[in-house]
Amino acid sequence: MLKQGGLVAFPTETVYGLGANAFDTGAVARIFAAKDRPSFDPLIVHVPSLADVGRVAFADDPRLPGLAARFWPGPLTLVFLKRPELPDLVTAGLPAVGVRVPGHAMARALLTAAGVPIAAPSANPFGAVSPTTAAHVLEGLGDRVDVILDGGPCTVGVESTVLSLLGERPLVLRPGGVTREDLEATLGHKVEVRASSSRPVSPGQLERHYATRTPLDLLDGPAPARPSAPGRIGLLAFAAPPDGHGYAAVEVLAEDGRLATAAARLFAALRRLDALGLDRLVAEPVPEDGLGRAILDRLRRAAARG
Ligand code: TXA
Ligand code: MG
Repeated sequence: MLKQGGLVAFPTETVYGLGANAFDTGAVARIFAAKDRPSFDPLIVHVPSLADVGRVAFADDPRLPGLAARFWPGPLTLVFLKRPELPDLVTAGLPAVGVRVPGHAMARALLTAAGVPIAAPSANPFGAVSPTTAAHVLEGLGDRVDVILDGGPCTVGVESTVLSLLGERPLVLRPGGVTREDLEATLGHKVEVRASSSRPVSPGQLERHYATRTPLDLLDGPAPARPSAPGRIGLLAFAAPPDGHGYAAVEVLAEDGRLATAAARLFAALRRLDALGLDRLVAEPVPEDGLGRAILDRLRRAAARG
């Protein structure tokens, strides 16, 4: 299907991707159409191994071997200057491309069998909550996709960390499945995180994204036992709901208090709460370190008023 210019949704360890042959401009254009995605938003290119990065990017960066050895296959996307052969549509006209070697066995089998780099954004309509099961993809994109490969629920649950290697200092453009702490340990120095994506100065700077249909608020601290607004309110709790609470519905992200558990469950829990048709959702913040930064980034964007 990929060789014929079709769209194939496939599992990765982060979220499901909506894939097309990265060298087929027509197929890549169908990705943007299927998602209603604006063409100024660049796509990540997936390759089977480190050796394939050079097919789409100029990857002679001295930091690449160490990062790849530690984090690939896995939830890290690296941004390099693109090769001219890669269609400009993939990078939305940018001179740089994000490349990743995914870790999910089915994604790797697909990349190997297809023999072409696969451009793939998350397999959801633009702005909506990302899919972490094949059923989520079917629900959001239905017959806009030619094939959906079912590889079970995603184990990481938040998208890859996007790290730009364009400058002298590596810069995190999007927090994700690889933590800043892990990057710093491997690189041997502090890593900057682009401010607007992690801690917006004003809500207006936030692209509304990961949005539920039900309006969502991110709380400043632990949820009060009684919702502070009238109506039927749903709670996305971190480790446990407050005793004797008055919420219409509760989803707990991680009874074990682990951020990895919370990340893996985040998008499915948001979808379940959204499906109840409540008046409002409120989300408890999670600790802001490690994977917590990626989770908070998604919750802040989901809460941004568009
Ligand atoms: O985990 C993931 O990264 C998933 C799976 C399918 O691999 N993909 C994903 O793609 O999340 P998407 O399209 O939903 O998010 C891609 C984001 C862009 O919106 C942008 O923020 C960043 O990655 N990005 C991609 N290419 C870039 C580039 N050339 N320069 C800067 N940022 C880029
Ligand atoms: Mg996405």
